[in-house]
Amino acid sequence: MSDYFTEEGSVAAVNARMGADVNPRLRRIMSSLVEHLHDFVKDVELTEAEWEIAIDFLTRTGQICSDTRQEFILLSDVLGVSMLVDAINHRAPEGATETTVFGPFHVADAPERTLGENISLDGKGETCRYFGRVLDLDGNPIVRASVDVWSDNEEGFYDVQQPGIQPPMNNRGVFRTDAEGRYWFRGIKPVSYPIPDDGPVGQLLAQLERHPYRPAHMHFLVGAPGYDSVTTHIFVAGDSYLESDAVFGVKQSLIVDYRRVNDPDCPWEAEYDFILRRRS
Ligand code: BEZ
Ligand code: FE
Repeated sequence: MSDYFTEEGSVAAVNARMGADVNPRLRRIMSSLVEHLHDFVKDVELTEAEWEIAIDFLTRTGQICSDTRQEFILLSDVLGVSMLVDAINHRAPEGATETTVFGPFHVADAPERTLGENISLDGKGETCRYFGRVLDLDGNPIVRASVDVWSDNEEGFYDVQQPGIQPPMNNRGVFRTDAEGRYWFRGIKPVSYPIPDDGPVGQLLAQLERHPYRPAHMHFLVGAPGYDSVTTHIFVAGDSYLESDAVFGVKQSLIVDYRRVNDPDCPWEAEYDFILRRRS
């Protein structure tokens, strides 16, 4: 049978070109991609002008990427693809802490800090005491688990977004749980903030009449030898963007009541236990 290209036979024409020795996983991924992409083009009957807009959009998305900016991941985030990949790859058993998006603002070499230290170095924001335990699925404490945390400052920016304005390593640090699996530190009650929206992804959101905001959250990357690490956040209950997070990261189990306490130096506290599962 001829594999000349036709509208009806477009998928078969392209997929038939793959060689006999193509890696099976690559074969599966590329043939499915071609099938869905062609179905999409046929479904919307894409015009040539729309095809050009799409090419221009992807070109600009690539051009704005740099060492400190990844616009393609942002695109994946706002289309819900990042959360879908996360969901498929982290189907946690009942009771284990749920995961959410990693985001672009983690740094790999944040300083190890002593339990109780304050990660807020710019003196801005309302101080909050964070505490809880890292446990296994049976409720046993995990000793010396790593609790890597990061958040925005009171103005809604991460330190890496404002070099020269914020102190380096502002609002970030790595803690180790004690003999009972406990962690505690001080930070700020975070604020909601817009994802970087001065590029093609921001323009797309505006055209779709979507806002760019994320509800206030503290990031956590919690891990220990022999356990699956958990990349997650805790979200501030009551935030007005919880139901419309620009990147779809919110899960009910991650929403935490920040409690007001009678301490002028530290007027808030937030408690959360992390439950890790053994690495399979
Ligand atoms: C963040 O929470 O830091 C984030 C996540 C996805 C896109 C942009 C920022
Ligand atoms: Fe964030």
